[in-house]
Amino acid sequence: MTDSADHRALKKTLGRYPTGVTVVTARRGDGEPVGLTVNSFTSVSLDPPLILWCLGNESPSRPVFEQAGHFAVNILGAEQGWLSNRFAQPIDDKFAAVQWSEGAHGVPIIEGSVARLVCRLHDRQPGGDHVILLGRVEDYQNPGGEPLVYLGGEYQSLRDG
Ligand SMILES: Cc1cc2nc3c(=O)[nH]c(=O)nc-3n(C[C@H](O)[C@H](O)[C@H](O)COP(=O)(O)O)c2cc1C
Repeated sequence: MTDSADHRALKKTLGRYPTGVTVVTARRGDGEPVGLTVNSFTSVSLDPPLILWCLGNESPSRPVFEQAGHFAVNILGAEQGWLSNRFAQPIDDKFAAVQWSEGAHGVPIIEGSVARLVCRLHDRQPGGDHVILLGRVEDYQNPGGEPLVYLGGEYQSLRDG
């Protein structure tokens, strides 16, 4: 599918499916934190505990996530749309002005996120223009709160309407 009108129509159709919004994070070999906004996150299996998300093949973070061994899925809260926007930009200083701490294996945990899962990279599979990363959940926190929702290309709150 190369026609951009087809792309737009498909994206609009897929956008009918509401999702949460996450920032997936890891540490580079030199210790610097990396992260990007992700809504392809989904649960896969309880036993063993597996989740997946999809990472664009062209992402500059791809080698980091494939080599880091561990990553964190930070599920954003309803007031964290600004963080989603920040981590969806190809900028170098995404973590500037962001409050975060180290979770298990040093992965960046974003303050205010409504839940966090620390995962070991379990497997990766090609998925067209993305790579599917399977993670085995090794640690998690569930502080709670209202999640950020993404629908029709816009942020929503569960209380909207
Ligand atoms: C709501 C939302 C969801 C997104 N979901 C994904 C996703 O699941 N996978 C992905 O690779 N990019 C996703 N993106 C786009 C990336 O966040 C964006 O391309 C970002 O710049 C990638 O970071 P990088 O430039 O450091 O690779 C999403 C963007 C938004 C706004």
